[in-house]
Amino acid sequence: MQSPVPEGDFLAAGHWLFAQGCDFVLGVVSLSGLPTDNAMEIAFAGRSNVGKSSLLNGLTGRKNLARTSNTPGRTQELNFFRLAPNRPGGPWLVDMPGYGYARESKNKIAAWNELLTTYLRGRANLRRVFVLIDSRHGLKANDMAMLDDLDVTAVVYQIVLTKADKISAADQERVVADTKARLVKRPAAYPDVILTSSETGLGLDELRGTVATLVDLNAIGYKA
Ligand code: GTP
Ligand code: MG
Repeated sequence: MQSPVPEGDFLAAGHWLFAQGCDFVLGVVSLSGLPTDNAMEIAFAGRSNVGKSSLLNGLTGRKNLARTSNTPGRTQELNFFRLAPNRPGGPWLVDMPGYGYARESKNKIAAWNELLTTYLRGRANLRRVFVLIDSRHGLKANDMAMLDDLDVTAVVYQIVLTKADKISAADQERVVADTKARLVKRPAAYPDVILTSSETGLGLDELRGTVATLVDLNAIGYKA
């Protein structure tokens, strides 16, 4: 479903959407626990410690909505947050456990991977996966494996570069260009890359606006 919002207005729409509030609703540890209400889902994936939970907090303007940590592996469930909880049709924002975290037991890692892959493969209402990449490091092997998975399952994904405050303006430009170049031949990749910092707020308006283009704003009650 295309958004009714003309391109120039997407920032205003994003601002409005995220001003409607956001609630944590449930943490899912197995497929049987996934919500069944058919609302749109927008997921945030990425390596452990890349800044997924911080980004959710930044987007919603809430310091402690999603738990963040210096210790990788903080988020251990699929956490479902309802955006615009007081309006019909508010979408789910899904904070995913990070991949590439080696310090957990093999069994636990296998169980998470199973949950993640099955979730990504089977979710009809999953509108887009934002794959977060640390702008200091760029795409690594396990990121590429994640993108391969998403290409196979044809879930549209978009790269969001995080922690841009930690690199120079020149490096920011370079990592955006490099990342875009590596997406060209990937069938399910959205071509635009969003550069963000949860610290400074860089790129958060653009990301909010992008989320707004993915949901049915009329149903949620937005009047342009
Ligand atoms: P897991 O849940 O373990 O997968 O991690 P996560 O991807 O949710 O990362 P989280 O948001 O918990 O952030 C990890 C660490 O990076 C924390 O110490 C954050 O404060 C820090 N961090 C996150 N985003 C930014 C950012 O934009 N800039 C800077 N400088 N630090 C950040
Ligand atoms: Mg987290």
